[in-house]
Amino acid sequence: MSLFITFEGIEGSGKSTQIQLLAQRLRDRNLLVTTTREPGGCPLCDRIRDLLLNPDQQSMAPSAELFLYLASRAQHMAEVILPALGQGRIVLCDRFSDATAAYQGFARGIDPDFIETLNRFATSGRGPDLTLLFDLAAEDGLRRSRCRDRSAGVQADRLERESLDFHRRVREGYLHLAAAEPQRFRVFDASLAPEKLSAVVETAVLPFLQ
Ligand code: TMP
Repeated sequence: MSLFITFEGIEGSGKSTQIQLLAQRLRDRNLLVTTTREPGGCPLCDRIRDLLLNPDQQSMAPSAELFLYLASRAQHMAEVILPALGQGRIVLCDRFSDATAAYQGFARGIDPDFIETLNRFATSGRGPDLTLLFDLAAEDGLRRSRCRDRSAGVQADRLERESLDFHRRVREGYLHLAAAEPQRFRVFDASLAPEKLSAVVETAVLPFLQ
């Protein structure tokens, strides 16, 4: 059975940990799972990711940023996601089109209808069957992501360096998107302990496996 599940949330919301935990739970049920992420997920997309997240690239125009995320998505869709779904796999993707709506739309201020049109073009019209949103206060998320960067010895990326206000708008954007499509979104309290949260996530996903 093919199923396309996306994971969304602000920086530090723990979605990348949750993707790994859910993948393991589904594999334990003998299901075929592909995990991937955006931007990234294939060689060309990884190069675009480097351009997008490089902190030295501070002068990037919002429109250039938007098209780079979409370019990565178009390639990722063609090279990874659609083939995996075609083979009947469950695809778990760390961020997808809702991230563009939240970051470039709500936070940067680009017209959401225009973004939706471009997203449809980049994805060949194939959207997620289910979107898991890990919700957390922006202050808490940024604190977590800075702490993670420090212990990994890496510097904050270009998007992590945006203001607290920017990240608050991203969070509000995500909550707005979730409220507009309650049948596709499930919203989780990202402040729960990872294992406990993973069990709640699995319970929410199981009905989609029928
Ligand atoms: P992450 O994968 O480590 O979370 O980093 C990706 C960053 O890119 C994160 O700050 C969110 C941002 N982003 C957008 O602004 N627009 C998008 O469409 C996507 C997929 C990510």
